[in-house]
Amino acid sequence: MSGDARKTAEGLVYLSGFGNEHSSQAVPGALPEGRNSPQRAPLGLYAEQLSGTAFTEPRADNRRSWLYRIRPSAAHPAFTRAGNGAIRTAPFTQAVPDPNRLRWNPLPEPEAGTDFLAGLWTLGGNGDVAQRTGMAVHLYHATASMERVFSDADGELLIVPERGGLLLRTEFGLLHAEPGHVALIPRGVRFRVELLDEEARGYACENYGAPFRLPDLGPIGANGLANVRDFMAPVAAYEDVEGPVEVVNKFCGNLWTATYDHSPLDVVAWHGNHVPYVYDLRRFNVIGTVSYDHPDPSIFTVLTSPSDTPGLAGVDFVVFAPRWMVGEDTFRPPYFHRNVMSEYMGLIEGAYDAKAEGFVPGGGSLHNMMSAHGPDRETFDRASAAELKPQRIDDGLAFMFETRWPVTLTPHAARAEHLQQGYDDVWQGLERHFRPLH
Ligand SMILES: [Fe+2]
Repeated sequence: MSGDARKTAEGLVYLSGFGNEHSSQAVPGALPEGRNSPQRAPLGLYAEQLSGTAFTEPRADNRRSWLYRIRPSAAHPAFTRAGNGAIRTAPFTQAVPDPNRLRWNPLPEPEAGTDFLAGLWTLGGNGDVAQRTGMAVHLYHATASMERVFSDADGELLIVPERGGLLLRTEFGLLHAEPGHVALIPRGVRFRVELLDEEARGYACENYGAPFRLPDLGPIGANGLANVRDFMAPVAAYEDVEGPVEVVNKFCGNLWTATYDHSPLDVVAWHGNHVPYVYDLRRFNVIGTVSYDHPDPSIFTVLTSPSDTPGLAGVDFVVFAPRWMVGEDTFRPPYFHRNVMSEYMGLIEGAYDAKAEGFVPGGGSLHNMMSAHGPDRETFDRASAAELKPQRIDDGLAFMFETRWPVTLTPHAARAEHLQQGYDDVWQGLERHFRPLH
């Protein structure tokens, strides 16, 4: 299957823009004009609305799409419970919330034949899925393409590939996500993950809260950070498959399965703004100081899930992309800090400028609410003595899921063999330099 997938991923056509109304039809005449649900939809298709927000949410927040499909989604048999594998869901109550700074190596190798869903491993999270608050941090390591189809009623999935390309076959069409890209699959959208390489590894943020949006820009102005036009939605592409297809649905923390007599990826045309996207993180327009100090890392926010409190995100997705450092009389790596927000960091490639070693691609670190962190001793010593010439940081691509609530681990993350021992040691040996004048 992967050979066919590679062929298909090349030359994909996309629709540019985030949050706006897109429309696409795989067959001419499939998209009705002038109304959403005509008495008879064109070409014998069924019309169906997929809502990502309540009907009555303000226009600026409202997400919905109209799908024109071979069969309505309602045409399915009963779902029955399936095993959850290593997927866990909020509320996370089985482990004691841990104030320690924690760091993991990459996931161990999975068995042959592990697809994306079987390869999902939950690190932890917060909130309550039934209240539609909070988030979960997952990692994945897969060695096989999915044959089955998945959808997540519990939240949207922000997939961050670290190794291996993915072809995402969604109800809306095909997306191609390589390491350095992110893919956003809205709540409830059915999709299948096919591997474009021998294996695929990466991260996923499951956002139970309000859908991700682009942050407001304030005094930055009308441009900058992640630009709207760099988000790519798919064009309509459908499967006309009659025959058994397994469909897995994640609902309030559990996986449920049903065998359909057709593929649910049978949407021939659609329009709306509740759609999946792919975004190339290297398109991020990095804003930083051109004088001294450096702004808080919120300046690197790609996507934010707002809460009812202005400026307080359920979760932010933040990227540390290649950029120039030019600050004068400035300690240039991220400063020492304690933060009410909790930070899970991952590394897509290369190195991160606040850590000398131990933070590796595919691994991750967790700095929970008010835990003290910052550069390790080696980085501190180097940056304190560095000659402050303009310096390009282009040897790494790191990201952060930053969330308003502490992240509680799953028991398997708390006990994992790949949880590093002695992470605290990186901050040992930060010597006393204080010398009073008198
Ligand atoms: Fe931090």
